[in-house]
Amino acid sequence: MIDNKKVLFSGMQATGTITLGNYLGALKNWVTLSDEYECFYSVVDLHSITVRQDPAELRKRARNLLTLYIAAGLDPKKNCIYYQSHVSGHAELGWILDCFTYMGELNRMTQFKDKSAKHADNINAGLYTYPVLMAADILLFQADVVPVGKDQLQHLEITRDIAERFNNIYGDVFTIPEPYLGKAGAKIMSLQDPTKKMSKSDENANASIFLLDDTDTIIRKFKRAVTDSEACIRYCDEQPGIHNLIDIYSACTSKTPEEIVAEFEGKGYGDFKLAVGETVANTLKPVQDRFYELQSEKAYIDGIIKENAEKANYYATKTLRKVQKKVGFPERIR
Ligand code: TRP
Repeated sequence: MIDNKKVLFSGMQATGTITLGNYLGALKNWVTLSDEYECFYSVVDLHSITVRQDPAELRKRARNLLTLYIAAGLDPKKNCIYYQSHVSGHAELGWILDCFTYMGELNRMTQFKDKSAKHADNINAGLYTYPVLMAADILLFQADVVPVGKDQLQHLEITRDIAERFNNIYGDVFTIPEPYLGKAGAKIMSLQDPTKKMSKSDENANASIFLLDDTDTIIRKFKRAVTDSEACIRYCDEQPGIHNLIDIYSACTSKTPEEIVAEFEGKGYGDFKLAVGETVANTLKPVQDRFYELQSEKAYIDGIIKENAEKANYYATKTLRKVQKKVGFPERIR
């Protein structure tokens, strides 16, 4: 608890440009949650280097992501928006927790299995202990809730296991975090293969809408979106392409799928795809405008980065010192 509010932690990787899926599935909800919780929203750049990155590119993407958090509506005075690499406690707690995590547990992580298949030439130890760093992120701030997608639930489970194991030995050190799953239907799929999640790292650029895609690009991508063969707008599992477009339209307009089906009754795929494209473009436009405005306010963003790194460091150090003492490290002489 901070000032009588429950603590929320979440983060995104700056590995690619974030997508419409990240926005509708996460970022947009983060803004809503920021009223109720004391929030820490990190740009998790330590996680990003588990996969080889171009340094200049990583720096640029991290800055863009941090700016996008603010452009999407997160107030950086209320929410702690910061770079993970500016708070050394993440890595320090990560190491300690490594010593409380079993290889057998890490061997079961499905994301590790997927990623090591995908990056077979670089199966590094960081990729393997990634879930422990994620646990450190969360536990460092004594987070009560963690909004995550379904694909991260296993990592949250291991976070809870590590925290409970530690608490069983040393007493109540860590708050046990709960996952916060957004409302159903916010999972956005690829526009080219609606059985796959929309991803930042998809090789086919037409499969994903990136948050900074301009209006023409967005409309073109929706025109090319893979649809089904029934040629009518129905909301059902047999039409995964249309299902996905309805979900997107629904998330942007707050209309229910039933209302949307009624709205497009008798219309063809072409009309519907255009409508979805235009709606998405209109939804993203204010975020994009604000992003470009903020991008030119360098001193303002730098100030936010500095202030929030200090704030994050303050809370992180509090937990870290407690943990260091518990495991038997010597007191600091002041
Ligand atoms: N692993 C998460 C992802 O790839 C990102 C992440 C890192 C995270 N640390 C976190 C999410 C802590 C929530 C809480 O999506």
